Amino acid sequence: MKKTFFFLFFFISLLIIKKLEAITIITPEDGSYVSSSFFYVVGRVQNPSATHIVVTVNDLKSPLIYIKDPEYISQFKDFFIIDLELEQGENLIGIKAFKDNVQIEEKKIKVNKVGKYEELPKGKKRYFFHSPVKEESCTDCHKIDKESCLECHKGIISRKYVHGPAGSGDCDVCHSFSEVNGYKYSLKEDIENICFECHSDMKKDNFKYLHGPFAVGNCNLCHNVHSSDYPQQLLFSVNELCKTCHTEFKEKGKVHVLPKHPLENRKDPSRPGKDLSCASCHNPHGQEGNLFFPQGKKSRMEICGICHKK
Ligand code: HEC
Ligand code: HEC
Ligand code: HEC
Ligand code: HEC
Ligand code: HEC
Ligand code: HEC
Ligand code: HEC
Ligand code: HEC
Repeated sequence: MKKTFFFLFFFISLLIIKKLEAITIITPEDGSYVSSSFFYVVGRVQNPSATHIVVTVNDLKSPLIYIKDPEYISQFKDFFIIDLELEQGENLIGIKAFKDNVQIEEKKIKVNKVGKYEELPKGKKRYFFHSPVKEESCTDCHKIDKESCLECHKGIISRKYVHGPAGSGDCDVCHSFSEVNGYKYSLKEDIENICFECHSDMKKDNFKYLHGPFAVGNCNLCHNVHSSDYPQQLLFSVNELCKTCHTEFKEKGKVHVLPKHPLENRKDPSRPGKDLSCASCHNPHGQEGNLFFPQGKKSRMEICGICHKK
């Protein structure tokens, strides 16, 4: 009796081990966190009886994907490559394998998506893909070199306004192509120093007072360095951008110190071709005065004249 039980247990545990091995998720890694919203889930289904897979992300579910199509196999063999959009916070990603209509296996991982303005989750590891071990699973079919970056990363330049060097594929201007701590493509140096190399007319000592996020060199809190839906590589329209940190301006009843003054939806008389925005009166980087008024103006009364000619 005892013996049968033992064998049964042994048999079951073997089955479980086998089951776990049949679906492998190569990227991303369970329990890690990421900061980009678009993500690839790449892995293999090595269970020969699997005919279809279904991908789930939180409450969303893909239709059945037929993986025994000869066309599919000729391109992808037993790999699956799926692009996902992650939600803020924890995401539960599942890959289910089916034999016809019957589910035979499932593999789940959790990945945290952290926004730019959020604190990093404690006790979790930032996810990096480009280690030699992970890349090895891809290099049968993909080259990974300067010419191929955009084959897997076309998403980053898909928005309307593309930043010069990203659009021209010059990833190596900002990303290091040699390994650092076991991974490739980390940033070459502090973000601001990278930016100032080309935008050399922008220096911190241009200004007496610096705006907080500019002072600490986090250009990427406001700019998308690859591509953006808004002019000047901004993450949001100017006024929305300001309000993401100056949240008091989102509150009902809070009015700007110029209570009746329009703040948007007008042309900016001082800057032909631009619309009136917070940036019309406050330089987002810095200026001579502590409220960053344009053209070196320091006081409230001085600035009216740059737009209102008596
Ligand atoms: C068996 C061959 C094979 C392997 C192995 C493989 N891929 Fe691919 N991959 C392809 C093919 C084929 C395409 C489609 C190319 C095209 O559309 O021109 C592709 C496309 C992609 C794309 C672009 C998808 C899109 O949205 O257009 C990404 C990203 C990608 N693979 C990542 C990976 C990663 C990461 C690995 C390794 C973990 C990997 N692939 C391993 C064959 C493979
Ligand atoms: C075979 C597909 C593939 C190719 C080619 C590729 N990447 Fe990636 N890369 C990925 C995947 C998958 C990730 C993980 C993030 C994701 O899923 O979008 C990633 C992530 C990154 C990251 C974020 C940091 C990290 O390690 O996760 C950087 C930076 C990056 N790639 C730069 C590059 C550059 C530069 C090139 C060209 C030299 C390149 N990649 C070529 C698939 C690829
Ligand atoms: C002008 C500098 C610059 C150039 C050029 C550039 N990157 Fe980046 N990249 C960055 C910075 C800075 C980050 C850090 C993420 C952030 O907060 O914006 C980053 C992050 C990434 C990431 C991580 C995911 C993400 O969206 O944050 C990937 C993938 C990536 N870069 C790929 C590329 C590829 C591929 C190219 C070339 C086509 C490229 N980059 C060109 C500066 C650059
Ligand atoms: C290799 C040179 C190079 C580097 C490095 C670089 N840029 Fe640029 N940047 C350009 C070019 C070229 C343009 C487009 C020319 C133009 O419109 O003025 C541009 C345009 C911009 C614009 C839009 C300007 C406009 O008038 O539309 C912003 C914002 C910007 N870059 C920010 C950054 C930030 C932030 C960094 C650092 C992460 C950076 N750049 C790094 C070359 C570079
Ligand atoms: C607080 C948000 C914020 C930060 C941080 C920030 N920028 Fe900007 N930046 C803006 C806004 C908003 C504009 C567009 C202003 C307008 O409408 O004229 C802009 C415009 C630009 C331009 C094009 C116009 C010009 O002034 O030449 C460049 C280049 C630029 N920024 C580079 C940088 C660099 C480099 C850094 C980091 C050292 C940085 N920015 C940090 C918000 C920011
Ligand atoms: C990433 C967060 C962030 C964004 C985005 C941001 N700010 Fe700020 N801003 C700060 C911080 C931090 C300070 C300094 C703390 C303080 O004095 O309240 C500051 C200070 C200021 C000040 C000086 C306030 C004072 O009372 O001394 C002005 C004016 C200002 N920001 C305007 C803007 C405008 C206009 C925008 C949009 C173009 C903007 N900010 C976008 C974080 C941000
Ligand atoms: C037409 C010009 C103008 C526009 C547009 C404008 N401001 Fe101001 N802002 C001012 C002036 C003038 C003051 C200073 C008043 C004073 O000194 O009493 C000020 C003060 C501020 C201050 C510091 C005082 C406070 O209330 O904390 C902040 C922060 C600020 N503005 C943010 C913004 C933001 C965010 C926007 C866009 C939603 C914006 N401003 C649009 C002219 C403007
Ligand atoms: C960056 C440009 C700019 C600055 C600086 C500026 N204004 Fe204006 N102002 C405008 C624009 C644009 C309008 C809208 C005109 C229209 O609707 O035709 C406006 C409208 C007004 C109006 C009419 C408001 C209404 O109810 O229609 C008054 C009053 C006014 N501004 C006063 C001021 C004062 C006082 C200052 C200085 C503290 C100032 N403005 C600074 C651009 C500016």
